[in-house]
Amino acid sequence: MKIGIDKIGFYTPAMYIDTGDLAEARGVEPGKFKVGIGQEKMAVAPKTQDAVTLAANAALNILTQADIDAIDYVIFATETGVDHSKAAGIFAHELLGLKKSARSIEVKQACYSATAGLQIAKGHIALNPDSRVLVLASDISRYGLKTGGEITQGAGAVAMVIARDPKLLTIESPSVYQTDDAMDFWRPLYSDTAHVQGKFSVIQYINFFKDLFAQYQEQTKTSLKDFEALVFHTPYTKMGLKALQSVLEDADEADKKRLLDYYEVGKYYNAIVGNIYTGSLYLNLISLLEQNQTLEAGATVGLFSYGSGSVGEFFTGILQPGYRDHLKKEYHEKLLEEREQISIERYEAVFMDTIPNGVGDIELDIEMDPALICLAGIKNHMRQYVNKQQ
Ligand code: COA
Repeated sequence: MKIGIDKIGFYTPAMYIDTGDLAEARGVEPGKFKVGIGQEKMAVAPKTQDAVTLAANAALNILTQADIDAIDYVIFATETGVDHSKAAGIFAHELLGLKKSARSIEVKQACYSATAGLQIAKGHIALNPDSRVLVLASDISRYGLKTGGEITQGAGAVAMVIARDPKLLTIESPSVYQTDDAMDFWRPLYSDTAHVQGKFSVIQYINFFKDLFAQYQEQTKTSLKDFEALVFHTPYTKMGLKALQSVLEDADEADKKRLLDYYEVGKYYNAIVGNIYTGSLYLNLISLLEQNQTLEAGATVGLFSYGSGSVGEFFTGILQPGYRDHLKKEYHEKLLEEREQISIERYEAVFMDTIPNGVGDIELDIEMDPALICLAGIKNHMRQYVNKQQ
């Protein structure tokens, strides 16, 4: 049975900053952020958007009534969840009007967890072939103002429907994965910003990719020519490029050119949205699928998933006939075009304007936020979400 991604979409908040403005404000050469880090724009989330609303907004645009009736499992991948106990998937389940006879859970392992969700979904469908599983990957990346990681922030979510006979991409077996206890990036329970050993995280990520890619090729007796394109977990676009370049040193010119050209296509959305943690790999995939002109059905795409801490996985998918007809390219391009560019002063104010820990009652102004699904406040310590369509 073929199992894989039947539908895919993303959402990102309505505001962004230009990284050139951020460079100027921080006294850094713009070339460092634009070329050295490889980021053009960075999404900024207002306090009416959190991991739940971003994910639900991403799902809204891909789900039909038939999906809503068929989905029997919601797997919500996040490292910026909103509750230590209740799964974010349950809030999303309600906001999307899914049927009660569905499971809703949350999974966590830094930026890797959406891949865990995808593989859980694949196993579930293997046992229940008529099932459709909604995998949500949603995060707001926060390192802090004036920190080394500030340029690699962002916000957004990816929603995927996993099903048999998928219209976009099959998820093939085998996949190779590994775990290594490392403190390259983490966020203690008391902190709303991440801790990172930036340079170490880059080394750890590249080493994971090299190890897993070599293991995969050995196991499957494949080589570079067997991958039409590779997509990467992309905290910032230079990071994926470094990983790719690390396996191209001895490659022949045709392989090098093809993989580097497709990397350019894949990085497009990541460069103008920023780091969305768990969803970053799948944003890279959406960008590749929607922005390429040349990838044919039958092409093999390799996917490298990495979550600090660390867990990584390499696996492949095969593009399905007519896949272009089932993408949401126009919607995504419009979403990105209609965003408002804000000043660094306003970004700093939005960044600091968070709901303080422990606040049990607060009302938020959702009219300022064009998103259909928003956080409207907190009542008696319970988060109040609104779907403006309902
Ligand atoms: N023009 C072009 N490139 C420039 C430049 C300029 N004017 N000035 C600097 N650069 C390049 C540097 O040469 C370097 O390139 P290289 O990485 O290819 O060597 C790059 O810009 C970054 O410069 P660097 O001095 O290393 O930046 P930094 O000390 O500020 O650290 C990070 C950068 C990425 C390590 C830091 O932003 C960080 O910690 N980010 C979070 C890391 C992360 O997301 N980890 C996720 C775990 S998956």
